[in-house]
Amino acid sequence: MWPDTRLCDLLGIEHPIIQAPMTGTCTPALAAAVCNAGGFGSLGCAEKPLDRIRREVAELRSLTDRPFNLNFFTVDAPRTDPQTLARTRDRLKPWYDRFGLGAPPDRLPDLKPGFDAEKLDLMLELRPRVVSFHFGIPDASVLTVLKGAGILLIGTATTAAEARALDRAGFDAIIAQGWEAGGHRGSHRVTQPHEGVGTMALVPQIADAVSVPVIAAGGIGDGRGIAAALALGAAGVQMGTAFLRCPEAATATAWRDRLRAATEADTMATDAFSGRCARALSSRFAEEMAQHHDPRPGFIQMYALSGPLLDAAPDEEVSFHLCGQALTLGRDIGAAELMAQLARDTRDSLARLSPR
Ligand SMILES: Cc1cc2nc3c(=O)[nH]c(=O)nc-3n(C[C@H](O)[C@H](O)[C@H](O)COP(=O)(O)O)c2cc1C
Repeated sequence: MWPDTRLCDLLGIEHPIIQAPMTGTCTPALAAAVCNAGGFGSLGCAEKPLDRIRREVAELRSLTDRPFNLNFFTVDAPRTDPQTLARTRDRLKPWYDRFGLGAPPDRLPDLKPGFDAEKLDLMLELRPRVVSFHFGIPDASVLTVLKGAGILLIGTATTAAEARALDRAGFDAIIAQGWEAGGHRGSHRVTQPHEGVGTMALVPQIADAVSVPVIAAGGIGDGRGIAAALALGAAGVQMGTAFLRCPEAATATAWRDRLRAATEADTMATDAFSGRCARALSSRFAEEMAQHHDPRPGFIQMYALSGPLLDAAPDEEVSFHLCGQALTLGRDIGAAELMAQLARDTRDSLARLSPR
C-alpha cells in the first residue's frame, strides 16, 4: 500500500504519519485520534511532572489500545553566567517598563529539564512503544535500559552528523528535522537563529548517512508534502503544525486565530523566549531581540525572563506561538478526518507522479 513500509512495520501502524509531540499543545485526545486513524500519536512529556505524565498516559490508554510515543528533552541543567543574565535584563528592561512589570528577575530558577532516573523508571512502569528524544542523545546506559524493556527509540537530527551519532547510539528511527519546522529545533548543540538546513536538502542527505528509517519533519503540511518526503528517501513523516487547528489540540484561541490569519512568511526562528531556537509566529519582541546577537540565558531558564512579558503584553507585541512555515495548509478539522485526508492525498500525489 505504501512504497516504503519500514516505518509502518517498525511501529505497527497503517500510515507512516507521526503526530509530533508538542509539549503543552498535544493532548491524549489528539494522540488517541491519530492512533485510532492508523497513524502514530505522541505526547510531549518534556516539562511535565511525573504524575501528570501518568494521568495523561492513562487517559490515552482509555481512548486507544494502539501503540504511541512519549517524548522528552535531553538537555542538561541550564547554566547562565552573570554577564549574560545582566545583558539580557538590560535588553528586557524597556519592555518590562512598557508593561509596568518592574525590574526583570535577577535570579533564574534551578531546573532539571532533562531525562533523569525518575523519568526512566516511569518509562519502565508505563512501557510506551516508543520513547523519543529531542536535543541530543541520553547516556548509553539509559538507552540500554529502555531497549532492554523492548521500547523503541527515536531521536531528532538537524544535520547528517547528528543523524550518524543517533544511528551509532542504536536509535531505531531518526527524525530529519528541517529549518521550516515549527517548534524547537532539535539540534544537539545551541544554535543561532540563522543556522539550519531545509527539509528538502536535509532528508536525502540523512537518508544516505544512516541505516535506519528516516522520518522527515518540517514544513510538511499535506499529502503533497508527504509524497515529496517519501521521494526524498524518508520512510515516513512527523507533522506538528498541521495538527494545531484540530479541535483535539490544546492550542489557545489567540494562537488559533493568528494561525488562521497568518501567511507562510509570518514565522521566524527565535531564541528570545526559551534560550534555544524555535520557529514561531513573528512578534515585535522577537523581531527586536533578533537585532542583538547576544548569548541567551540557558534553555529553559530564559522563560523566567520572557514569561512575565508573555503574560502581560498583547499577542502581536509578545507571543510565542510555535508553528512551521506550512501553516496556511492547516485546517479546522478533527484529527481523524485530517489523517484520512493526508493518507488519501498522499496516495493521489504518488499516483499522479507515476502515470501508467
Ligand atoms: C507547537 C509545537 C510544539 C512542539 N513541541 C515539541 C516537543 O515538545 N518535542 C519535540 O520533539 N518536538 C516538538 N516540536 C517539533 C515537532 O516535533 C516537529 O519537528 C515539527 O512540528 C515539524 O514541523 P511542522 O510543524 O512544520 O510539521 C513542536 C512543534 C510545534 C509546532
